[in-house]
Amino acid sequence: MFNVSDTAYDNFMGRFSNRLAPLFADFAGIAAGQRVLDVGAGTGALTSELVRRGADVAAADPSPTFVAALHKRLPGISVHESPAEQLPWPDEAFDASLAQLVLTFMRDAPAGVAEMRRVVRSGGVVAACMWDFEGMEMLAAIRRTQHALDPSREAPEAGQLYRSRESIEALFGDFRLIDPADPAWHAVRDEVMGLLG
Ligand SMILES: C[S@@+](CC[C@H](N)C(=O)[O-])C[C@H]1O[C@@H](n2cnc3c(N)ncnc32)[C@H](O)[C@@H]1O
Repeated sequence: MFNVSDTAYDNFMGRFSNRLAPLFADFAGIAAGQRVLDVGAGTGALTSELVRRGADVAAADPSPTFVAALHKRLPGISVHESPAEQLPWPDEAFDASLAQLVLTFMRDAPAGVAEMRRVVRSGGVVAACMWDFEGMEMLAAIRRTQHALDPSREAPEAGQLYRSRESIEALFGDFRLIDPADPAWHAVRDEVMGLLG
């Protein structure tokens, strides 16, 4: 799916993910000096924002074209061609690991989140965001067009996981990365939902 040129990606999803990156980095509390891993970095929308903040940044993505683009765009950072499920860093190497618009594409999201947790120090941050399956108008327009052209065809994404807030919260809850009983968690989540409108 991501065997496309970096510029094609930038012209499509990049327009959205570049604007999302600062909001997501704020949500995760990323500041200068932190060691931060961008998982599923793509062409670097979030990676660039992390670098701009003065974080000590590393990135991973399984797409060779995106990894080549990242090497060219951000030559100072460590970039690995690897999926979330097999991160090539030692335990507790980072203060935070982030995945922007990646969860639904992982072959094994629980394994990917376990790896994101493994490489973060105790007390650090593991964070992910995904677009809302129904609410992302740019993608909903494509699904409507597909359906109009071939009504018998199911929307290709319909069976994919981790596109709702509830499913992501449940996944993170399984790893004890959030505690839904904790009022502080709800306060942060409500603040971010407000930022995103
Ligand atoms: C929608 S793009 C998001 C890219 C970037 N994070 C952004 O916000 O623009 C999804 C990314 O997930 C990557 N990806 C696919 N499978 C993955 C996996 N198993 N582990 C990590 N990343 C994966 C793709 O190569 C692609 O770069």
